[in-house]
Order: sequence, then structure tokens, then C-alpha cells
Amino acid sequence: MIDFLTGDMNVLGIETSCDETSAAIISGGTRVLSSIVLSQIEMHAPYGGVVPEIASRSHVEHLSGVVGEAVKVSGLSWSAIDAVAVTHGPGLASSLLVGLSFAKGLAFSLKKPLCVINHIEAHIYSAFLEGEASRFEDVCPFVALVVSGGHTSLFRVDGKGRYKLLGQTIDDAAGEAFDKGANLLGLGYPGGPVIDRISKNGQRDYVNFPRGRVRAQNLGLMGVDHDLCFSFSGLKTALLYYLKDHPPANEAELASVAASYQEAIIDSLVQRCERAVEDTGVLVVGGGVSLNSRLRERLTEMANRNSVELIMARPRYCGDNAAMIAGLAGAGYGTWGADAMAADAVPNLVLSL
Ligand code: KG4
Ligand code: ZN
Repeated sequence: MIDFLTGDMNVLGIETSCDETSAAIISGGTRVLSSIVLSQIEMHAPYGGVVPEIASRSHVEHLSGVVGEAVKVSGLSWSAIDAVAVTHGPGLASSLLVGLSFAKGLAFSLKKPLCVINHIEAHIYSAFLEGEASRFEDVCPFVALVVSGGHTSLFRVDGKGRYKLLGQTIDDAAGEAFDKGANLLGLGYPGGPVIDRISKNGQRDYVNFPRGRVRAQNLGLMGVDHDLCFSFSGLKTALLYYLKDHPPANEAELASVAASYQEAIIDSLVQRCERAVEDTGVLVVGGGVSLNSRLRERLTEMANRNSVELIMARPRYCGDNAAMIAGLAGAGYGTWGADAMAADAVPNLVLSL
């Protein structure tokens, strides 16, 4: 932990790694004084996915206003901000650079330390926001599932900065599987929320879609256990062929195909989590897909059945947000000071020992 860090430090966080422009102020690592998230979804929706050029231009246009709003809502003066924290990877290079350059300039002009944060680590930490500051360390060792549009990974967390990758997707992320599936179903972008919603009216066993397994011989494993890895690309192809032969005739059929597709994704996630958590008995979950109501329900069932302690991010901190960035910095994590000022944007930044 850095020496100037105090328990009630006020950290201004900035997040621009993908398609949310966000700023937040967190006190003492977990107390949220403000959290502003400007989503670009409407700008990307016509293209069926995030367009990097549009994302970075929009960050440039809006970041300064979003930061100003976060300071205003917090009720603090600029001089009460003790540090500036920002995501430096992973994410879209041109989007990361907007937030990183802004944060460097801001920290320099405020004469406050800068902290650069790994976005994946922050998704794990998001489950502890608004809780006790010591909670993250107290529940170690634990297993963390980060499940979003860009990531589907399982980690074992043994303490501060001690992350071991247990498994990950070898092709699409779970969020991508939702988005691509929704596209095939004609449901628009982003797919997760709409599939979640219409699946409530569908039959989950209407179509028996494949639950992608990863073979031990797979070359993409990079030393991790194949049984803890995920594969969603075959599922998407199965949906494509199913729809060619059986185009849904009405809303009820559409809902049942969507519910069956969702269930295949959720089955894969829950089954890997159940296995991964055997050793530690504590599962922490974050990322945009952890907003999914069926995933939350199934993980809760699994945790009750196995007496697992389940710590899920609150819905407002599941998607990309700067509160998790500022919180992680305020808890003493991340890279600080001169090293942070020299840090570059790292689009493929990893989180592992
Ligand atoms: O964490 P996030 O906001 O951004 C990334 O870092 O990727 O996650 C966005 C992803 C999208 O793929 C979106 O479809 C998915 O999260 N998502 C959901 C739900 N809400 C958002 N997936 C399933 N069910 C939801 N309710
Ligand atoms: Zn994210």
C-alpha cells in the first residue's frame, strides 16, 4: 500500500475503456459520493456493436462534462480530491487513451497522485462497493467470475495483487454470445438486456442448444484447466442453423428460442463456477452480464446448494463504471505515482500472477 493512502481518501475515478464515459468519487475505497455513467449505446446500436472511432470521439466530447458532474454531485471541492484514478487497460486503444490523457493532465494540474487501474481487477472489486472497506481482503481466498461483453474469465484471488487465471473463454465472451444471438433473433443491440427480458415469457427447454465444452487438446488453453474454460461460438452457430429451419412463427416461439439460448449460456457459466469454487467456498461475480436475472437466480441456487458465499456486484455497478476504478484505487490497489504518469494504454492488459 502506498504511504500517503489514508482510510478516508477521496478518489476521483475515470473510466473510458469501451462505450461508457464515466466518472465517480469514492471515499475510503467503498463509499460512493457520486457515480456518473454516460452510455453510448444509442450511438452504436444502428451498427449492431461498438464502433471504436465513434466511441473515442464521444469520450473526447463528453468526458470533461461527466467529470465536472461527478465533482458537483459529490458536494466536494476540487481541493478535497486526494487522487485521480483511471483505467489503462484492457479495452479499446483509442478510448483508453482519452481517459488516460485526461486523467494525467488533471492529476498534474491538481498536484495530486495518479493511479492507473486494470479494468478486469476493477470488475472484481465492484462487488465490494458500498460494503466494508476490508471486505475484499477478508474474504480471500475466493474465486471471481468476470463476465461481460469483452471478458469471460475465472480467477482465484489470494490477496492484494495475487490473481491466478483459472479459466476463460477460448472464443466469444458471454456478453458477445448474448449480443450475437440477439442479432440473429432480430432483437437489436445490446442483446443481453432484451434476451433477459423476453426469456421470462419463454420455455427454457424448448430447444436443446449445445453447452460448449473445451477439449483438453485445445491449443488456445495456455496452461489453464479446459474444464474451467468456456466456448460460445458453437452455440451461436447452432442458433443460426436452428433459425434457418425453424423461423419463430410468433412472439411465444421467439421467447422460447431466446430462453433456451440464454439457458445454454447460463448453464456453461454456472457449471464452471460450481466446479471452480469447490476449494475456496467464496464466489465473487462482476461485469455487465452479471446483471442477467436468470444468471443471478441460478448462481444463488448453486451457492445455496453448496453452502458457497456468493458476493455479486450490485446491479448499478455490473456494467462499466468509474466507481469501481476509484474504489479499487482508494483501497490501495493499482499502479501509483511516477509509474502511473509513465503508463501507456494497454488494450490487451491481462490480470494474472
Ligand atoms: O461490462 P459491460 O458493460 O461492458 C464490457 O466491459 O463489455 O458489459 C456489456 C455486456 C453486453 O454484451 C451486454 O449485452 C451484456 O453485458 N448485458 C447483459 C445484460 N445486461 C447487459 N447480458 C445478459 N443479461 C443482461 N441483463
Ligand atoms: Zn467492463
